Amino acid sequence: MEADDSVEPPVSFREQMNRVDSDLRSQASDGPWDAASDLLDWFEPYDSVLPDDHPPFDWFAGGRLNASHECLDRHLDARKNRLALRWEGELGETRRYTYLDLHREVNAIAGALRDLGVESDDVVTLYMPVLPELVASMLACARLGAPHNVVFAGLSADAVAARMERADSACLITCDGYYRRGDAINQKRRADNARMALDHDLHDTVVVERLGEPSLGENQHSYDALLSTYAGSTVDPVVRRSEDVLFQLYTSGTTGEPKRVTHTTGGYLSHVACTARSVLDVTPEDTHWCTADIGWITGHSYVVYGPLALGTTTVMYEGTPDHPDPDRIWSIIERNAVDVLYTTPTAIRSFMKWGEESPAGYDLSSLRLLGTVGKPIDPAAWQWYYTHVGNEDCPIVDTWWQTETGGILVTTLPGTDAMKPGSAGPSLPGIDVAVVDADGQELPPGERGMLAVRTPWPGMARELADASEWGASASGEEWSYLPGDEAVVDADGYITLLGRVDDGLTVDGQRIGTTEVERAIVSVKGVAEAAVIGVDCQLMTGVHAYVSPTLRTDVEPLRDAVHAAIEDAFGPDLALDQIVFTPDLPKTRSGKIMRRLLVAIATGQGYGDTSALRNPEIVGELERSDGSET
Ligand code: WTA
Repeated sequence: MEADDSVEPPVSFREQMNRVDSDLRSQASDGPWDAASDLLDWFEPYDSVLPDDHPPFDWFAGGRLNASHECLDRHLDARKNRLALRWEGELGETRRYTYLDLHREVNAIAGALRDLGVESDDVVTLYMPVLPELVASMLACARLGAPHNVVFAGLSADAVAARMERADSACLITCDGYYRRGDAINQKRRADNARMALDHDLHDTVVVERLGEPSLGENQHSYDALLSTYAGSTVDPVVRRSEDVLFQLYTSGTTGEPKRVTHTTGGYLSHVACTARSVLDVTPEDTHWCTADIGWITGHSYVVYGPLALGTTTVMYEGTPDHPDPDRIWSIIERNAVDVLYTTPTAIRSFMKWGEESPAGYDLSSLRLLGTVGKPIDPAAWQWYYTHVGNEDCPIVDTWWQTETGGILVTTLPGTDAMKPGSAGPSLPGIDVAVVDADGQELPPGERGMLAVRTPWPGMARELADASEWGASASGEEWSYLPGDEAVVDADGYITLLGRVDDGLTVDGQRIGTTEVERAIVSVKGVAEAAVIGVDCQLMTGVHAYVSPTLRTDVEPLRDAVHAAIEDAFGPDLALDQIVFTPDLPKTRSGKIMRRLLVAIATGQGYGDTSALRNPEIVGELERSDGSET
């Protein structure tokens, strides 16, 4: 599918953008990564950017550094009183930490953890929502050279226990509870259940007080009490090799076993610092808000490590952007004078549902740049974001990447590249991304195939750098990684993502991406969101669409309009066999639509554990409504 007409970068942005034009696209192939490492303050310089062109890929071999030093200590001379964190709680409370405040807290917690027996390379599990203490704990672990293992706060006790088992993690930092959509959630109880489910001994648990006085059992310590005991203590950052582990993270398993992804210190940090600067245009003077939860890779890379490595101010919000009211997101931008907003297409489609009056009621003029990540953004949502949030003054960067890639790989460079709504853009300089067929042969523009990353990059997971796990293959001498996305490239090298391979639809022998069908549906006025699945079982075959209408939309005329739009877009070969209207779609906590669950509902199979869902209540409703006529 061709992307829509391109949009030139707004002149108003070009005039004040921070990044110097010459620093990326114009450089030689390993140039950008050499420059990326210059953004860090190495204890010992590396010998080579990348010694070998085959696995294992040891980025910046020989270099020594510490991520906590990079994100804190080195900023103290120039900007100790500059804000590192601006946090808002769901109840409206605000907390601010300067770089000096954060440095002190990180040192105290690192001192406490060290005395609790945490050593270099011990894995510490963190199980908390978006709280400043989570950031402080991550950096305290990094200071000690102890990899952290953040588990999204909404996951179940079993999920925490399974991740701790696999990581052999014996220390847990959690909280007593937190607020979510007005309810106080008892996190401590879940953490206690996780502890009981563990096979191995859990040595110590540290508990952050968010709700009140937590009740503490044996080997359980109050975070605040540790802070006062260790106030004023300093811990020298442990010197780490570039390839030493900074953290592990399990990808949000919508089905199956969680998969461990390990990121290194030098390569990962260079990659996220470089892309935060070049793609998100972040500098120390900025206030940056990435709305992702820190429990996912986006939060690790672009709430915590990228922005703090650059010495900027990062905004964090405890709740969901539509609670207590849909205007919350805009009021946070206004109050904090946010320069850069990085969010998801799912969130943008929700904003659209609430209407353009909502952002229009706030002063959003501080915004300079907008970003999206997580799934393809359809051109209608892109235009809405560009017009009603960015006032046509802010470029949009549609950034493609994954937990496994650590940081952004495919996107336009703001202010430099023209944007094509619906298409993520070309790959970053120094990265060769192509669309290939089943044999790994590069396909010409316009032909659908698999996305392949054919050069290594600094933020690559250790598992990818080491060998050929996860689809990285060495056909002949060529190394390449298949991330599992379908895509098409245009004559300008712009890549349009068409959805995950496992979501594909086969219609009369033709493969059609669910994204394309969804795009056609959401282009219909009155449709807020849509998910499309292919159903193929004895009971039923066909293409089903789950459609969430905008508020106050009459459903019956919409049904006809959706059928008509599909016929317009794909001709008579593709007809929707069923349309189910629903107020919401089942989504993972990171906002991805859980299509497999829809398939399970449609085919009447059991759908198992729904604890990875943000809105499990929708499952019952969908079950009742599925099977209704087309
Ligand atoms: C999808 C999130 C289209 C893709 C950072 C990828 C996207 C998966 C985009 C990774 C984008 C991410 N356009 N699709 N801009 N960004 N994806 O690991 O399918 O949670 O493989 O990392 O999200 O999801 P993950």
